[in-house]
Amino acid sequence: MRAAYAMTDGRQFGHAAVLEMRAHAVASRRHGHAIFLSHSLGRLATMKTWALYSLKGGVGKTAAAVNLAYEAAASGKHVLLWDLDPQGAASWYMGIDESPEISAKRVVAGKEPLGRYVRPSAFERLDVLPGDRGYRDWDAHIHASKQPRKVLESLIEPFSETYSLLILDCPPGIGALATAILRAADRVLVPVVPTPLSLRALDEVNAHVEAKKVGKTNITPFFSMADRRRRMHKDLIAAPPAAMKKAPKTFIDYATHVEKMGEHRAPVAVFAPRSRAASQYRALYKTLA
Ligand SMILES: Nc1ncnc2c1ncn2[C@@H]1O[C@H](COP(=O)(O)OP(=O)(O)OP(=O)(O)O)[C@@H](O)[C@H]1O
Ligand SMILES: [Mg+2]
Repeated sequence: MRAAYAMTDGRQFGHAAVLEMRAHAVASRRHGHAIFLSHSLGRLATMKTWALYSLKGGVGKTAAAVNLAYEAAASGKHVLLWDLDPQGAASWYMGIDESPEISAKRVVAGKEPLGRYVRPSAFERLDVLPGDRGYRDWDAHIHASKQPRKVLESLIEPFSETYSLLILDCPPGIGALATAILRAADRVLVPVVPTPLSLRALDEVNAHVEAKKVGKTNITPFFSMADRRRRMHKDLIAAPPAAMKKAPKTFIDYATHVEKMGEHRAPVAVFAPRSRAASQYRALYKTLA
């Protein structure tokens, strides 16, 4: 049986067991006994959503989404990786070949029960909701919907029954999908290549959050594809600008092993577990978890 809930001590329970425990907790409460059980189950059922997002393309969003999803699952979390990009790169890295033909229009209209498209990956506790070419027009469809900013929130809500972490691999851009992502995610991870252009993209994301009043979005930038042999990268890492104040100390170096994910179609830790890239993604996950 597939576990629906994982306790912090490693124990796992299916839906039936959880329902039984809830009933027991309610009965105990009625008799004036401790209610810690229902309290802890309520807490465990809370799914976190992390989005790998930037308005800039090619900065390492997909590489980070795939590797962080793997690290989270390896550490015991039940993880769903939703590939929101029509290119479907994250799904491809995860070894998924089928294209499910999901149209953004139907998804936004709530006509696609997304759960039916979820596929298991080759790794324990890690599932994938594959990307599809039908996702091309997210912005137009979200914009035309009744509650554009809340579209994503209601779509991901049902997954909180099964997963403790949802990771969104987002396409680049700053339209209606971006606003919905910024609202729905508990944490928005923005990979920043140590160059002025990439930092400017981060400033634009922050300005967008303020202009659209998306709420208390937790934007966490991190340096990505850093090449410390390059003067510009070295200088920006040594004296990071104010926008990087919230960045974790761990960052991701430019590494051949990350490029090789395309050959292996797997997270770095699977084919190069002792590489620096693998330990950097692991360290990044640990700082964020
Ligand atoms: N740390 C890294 N070191 C070396 N190459 C990297 C690293 N991270 C990503 N790459 C490579 O850079 C390219 C872009 O990376 P990736 O697809 O993760 O970026 P992205 O931000 O998701 O791009 P897009 O905006 O197109 O979705 C890929 O070819 C990938 O293999
Ligand atoms: Mg990508």
